[in-house]
Amino acid sequence: MCGIVGYVGQQSAGPILLEGLQRLEYRGYDSSGIAVLDRDGALSVLKRQGKLRDLEAAIGVMPPGAAGIGHTRWATHGTPSDRNAHPHASSSGDVVVVHNGIVENYRSLKALLDAAKPERARSWQSETDTEVIPELIARELNQGRSFVEAMRACLGLLHGASAIAAFHRADPSRIYAARKGSAGGIVIGYGDGEMYLASDLPALLPHTATVYHLEDGEIAVVDSQGAVVHRVNQPPLRPVSRQVDLDPVAVARGPYRHFMLKEIHEQPRALSDTIRGRARLDPPSALADEFELSDDQLRSVERVLVIGMGTSLHAAMIGRWWIEQIAGIPADFDNASEFRFRAPVIGPSPLVVSVTQSGETIDTLGAMDHVRDRWGAPQIVITNVEGSEATRKADASILLRCGPEVGVASTKTFVGSLAALYLLACRIGRARGVLDDGELTERLEQLLTAPSLVERGLELSKRCKEIASSYTGAANFLVLGRGIEHPIAMEAALKCKEISYVHAEGYAAGEMKHGPIALLDQQFPVIALATRGPLFDKMMSAIQQVSARQAPVIAIGDEGDAELAELADHYIGVPPANDLLTPFALTPVIQLLAYHIALARGLDIDQPRNLAKTVTVE
Ligand code: G6P
Repeated sequence: MCGIVGYVGQQSAGPILLEGLQRLEYRGYDSSGIAVLDRDGALSVLKRQGKLRDLEAAIGVMPPGAAGIGHTRWATHGTPSDRNAHPHASSSGDVVVVHNGIVENYRSLKALLDAAKPERARSWQSETDTEVIPELIARELNQGRSFVEAMRACLGLLHGASAIAAFHRADPSRIYAARKGSAGGIVIGYGDGEMYLASDLPALLPHTATVYHLEDGEIAVVDSQGAVVHRVNQPPLRPVSRQVDLDPVAVARGPYRHFMLKEIHEQPRALSDTIRGRARLDPPSALADEFELSDDQLRSVERVLVIGMGTSLHAAMIGRWWIEQIAGIPADFDNASEFRFRAPVIGPSPLVVSVTQSGETIDTLGAMDHVRDRWGAPQIVITNVEGSEATRKADASILLRCGPEVGVASTKTFVGSLAALYLLACRIGRARGVLDDGELTERLEQLLTAPSLVERGLELSKRCKEIASSYTGAANFLVLGRGIEHPIAMEAALKCKEISYVHAEGYAAGEMKHGPIALLDQQFPVIALATRGPLFDKMMSAIQQVSARQAPVIAIGDEGDAELAELADHYIGVPPANDLLTPFALTPVIQLLAYHIALARGLDIDQPRNLAKTVTVE
């Protein structure tokens, strides 16, 4: 989703801004732009629909300037176009702004601004909500306010969450940043005689590991020597920066054709790293350290609710299953965007677990606020991003150790989230006395097989590619699973939609007869997840019903399952796993199938159209 960068220092700002934006490309965007200010106040604003290379081509010779801001836009208000791309300027051209988030009341603010000067009603340059922001700041400046005061007044008028970077044409020595709510973060990066802004750490990677994350409600004034932060009703202060650990090698694509493929192959490592030190066998313990909720608190929990969006919601569904099975406590899952606008009954004594790889998904953050405001229930977040907004809202965090995930479609953070949920189920089960030493040891030993299950699944890439080549032209897929494999069926369908642009539905196999079966014919392939678990026979019946409608069947089951292989048109055998662990065995195969279909179709796998890695708008 939208990305922000900023620079002030002695170097030429343009190339630094462009490079920063390139490092944010993975978030997904449809247009981009930069605004650069030279020391004499000459302003260049350059924007283009399309990829950054289009912007670069349009720029030609980079304008001079040692201060600037840049943006990658993911359209919310107004089509992707040159004129809707950020930066946006006030009608005077003095105030220049880039913005993440949504100004929910932009219509009334436009009307307010138009009404204030009916004699020269402004002709708005774009269809965006953002354009009111520079205009509001300019209006406040005209009333004699300082830039910080003007930004503060503007923030007070905006409804919804916003992250803003800005500058004033008259002052090339400063750039400004402000944050209201959770529209993604703003990070200030500290260089030597130069300073940076970014919505995400990867943009700062080549320059600095010393950062400050702007908090909700803060406004920062940044010049080449440092930053001063303004909070409401407090004196300005120099914030305390911290060091972050970002391995530059980890964000490079290496020998892989796509980040997604690289990240699929990094899954065994991501899993081992996430589990390391958290699943001890002698004596057995799960998540014993680094976890801020005590056993007493976990013992008093009577119900667990797991929430998330997209792939994280599918992890939540599997987490619900494990919490019920392993911890023996009522558990449920919910879609964060629906949950936050309901008045659900989540008690008594609930524990809420949010799954969000980015830690910045606005609906999940909104749901966490809902939980805090309405019930004050204890909250745990499972996330891959240290310091993300979700970690600040939660009482306790389980940090994944997957390394940066660049591909828009989540892969390694999915299996990482699964490992964290499994460990959490063990920890709750142990705290509640449901698991004795022997049972806990057994559960943890099972989890320790997960990295090798995934590793062996990756060896099936060639087979997935062969099968994918038969279905490159398919317009639809139905993916069936039962029990703990049902969420994997949904994840398989999501992957087909996300990167292969194929319509796909993930269904609980028992539900097939109640509608989807009407769609089936020779042109409608069905992927059936059918490992030899307790529901295997039921899956076999469902596959029979599919075959009877002449729909081609791609069955994914246990290695060497001749019965399944015979029934299916195509068969992929995954390593046999304990019933609770089959998600780890199946996941690489469904990811690789979607990947190879997308590859054969020649699609933009790492940055699928219309999608964003971090969804900071509702
Ligand atoms: C976007 C991403 C998905 C991700 C979802 C939830 O749609 O493209 O891959 O599953 O957001 O993101 P979260 O960061 O909350 O896990």
